[in-house]
Amino acid sequence: MSENLYIPTEASKSEKYEAILPQIEALISGEPDLYANLANISSALKEAFGFFWVGFYLVKGNQLVLGPFQGPIACTRINPGKGVCGTAWVEKKTQLVPDVELFPGHIACSAASKSEIVIPVFKEEEVVMVLDVDSDLLDDFDAEDQKYLERLIRILEKTF
Ligand code: SME
Repeated sequence: MSENLYIPTEASKSEKYEAILPQIEALISGEPDLYANLANISSALKEAFGFFWVGFYLVKGNQLVLGPFQGPIACTRINPGKGVCGTAWVEKKTQLVPDVELFPGHIACSAASKSEIVIPVFKEEEVVMVLDVDSDLLDDFDAEDQKYLERLIRILEKTF
């Protein structure tokens, strides 16, 4: 697997997802190290879309703990049900938040973050981590992001 990511320029968002998902799959499917794969997924999403913050929080004991990410420093620990990440964890459901100010209990790691999508990652029906993507633009995520990011997480789940 080449270590260059091909990202089509002048492409629509769905075309970009269609282009990078098979490349991410090729990159992570032969690699058993979880942290290496989470780091490369964070990097690939940041490179393709320029998201403000993208990364993982992993369930450790009774908290989510910061894992590999790209972007500014972030809060290290999140309690169950707290913020967008903690909600995705306990509800076992993707959270698509167009305006973080309107989300009860949103955890503002950065004042620059305006909208957010969080996707739970499952192992044997339990959430083991979440993918958190933040934008500095309001209403920056839609059903298309949800569809492709969930597809990406299903690819990740096959590696462990
Ligand atoms: N805003 C998130 C916390 C994580 S940071 O944005 C990186 C939340 O409410 O769960």
